[in-house]
Amino acid sequence: MIIVYASKTGFTKKYAAMLSEKLGLTMMDVKELSKVPKESEVLYLGWMKVGKVQGLRKMKGYKVVAICGSGTGRSAEPSEEEVKRRNGLENIPFFYLRGGCRPLRDLKGMDKVMLSMFVKAMRKNAEMDERQKEAVEIILHGFDGVNEENLIPVLEWAEKRIS
Ligand SMILES: Cc1cc2nc3c(=O)[nH]c(=O)nc-3n(C[C@H](O)[C@H](O)[C@H](O)COP(=O)(O)O)c2cc1C
Repeated sequence: MIIVYASKTGFTKKYAAMLSEKLGLTMMDVKELSKVPKESEVLYLGWMKVGKVQGLRKMKGYKVVAICGSGTGRSAEPSEEEVKRRNGLENIPFFYLRGGCRPLRDLKGMDKVMLSMFVKAMRKNAEMDERQKEAVEIILHGFDGVNEENLIPVLEWAEKRIS
């Protein structure tokens, strides 16, 4: 099995590196996909953008056996079932991993534009709940939620699969 990851700002890559070390598996950036043999099983990790696991489309024709999506929400939003449905992952193990983000001022391009719009829209809503308030704080000030403990379900699954 090989680990393939898509990571824009490094948080998903950190999870890929932890898994690579713990499971003794090679990890590859999805940008280097041509180096991944088509017959290898792939554990795929991608950062999430507006509910979509990034880079997954590039994996067509590869043997992806499980998927991890990293986002800033405490759990997959709006729900794990909905994230699976939106990404077409009903028949494959999916693990949500809490990642992180850099402060908004450090972002560039479309990502910055999209998140700025999100913050603006949220602030117009006077009745923000705790989760929404937290989301705004995280976007403005940055956050690192990467934690080895979050990998326990993935490790359990992978160890069974490899043995
Ligand atoms: C434009 C944009 C949209 C995002 N959409 C979501 C989302 O829908 N759900 C979520 O949990 N996180 C979302 N995030 C947060 C990232 O998925 C999260 O920060 C991720 O851990 C970043 O991983 P990376 O450092 O490997 O790129 C979004 C980030 C950006 C910049």
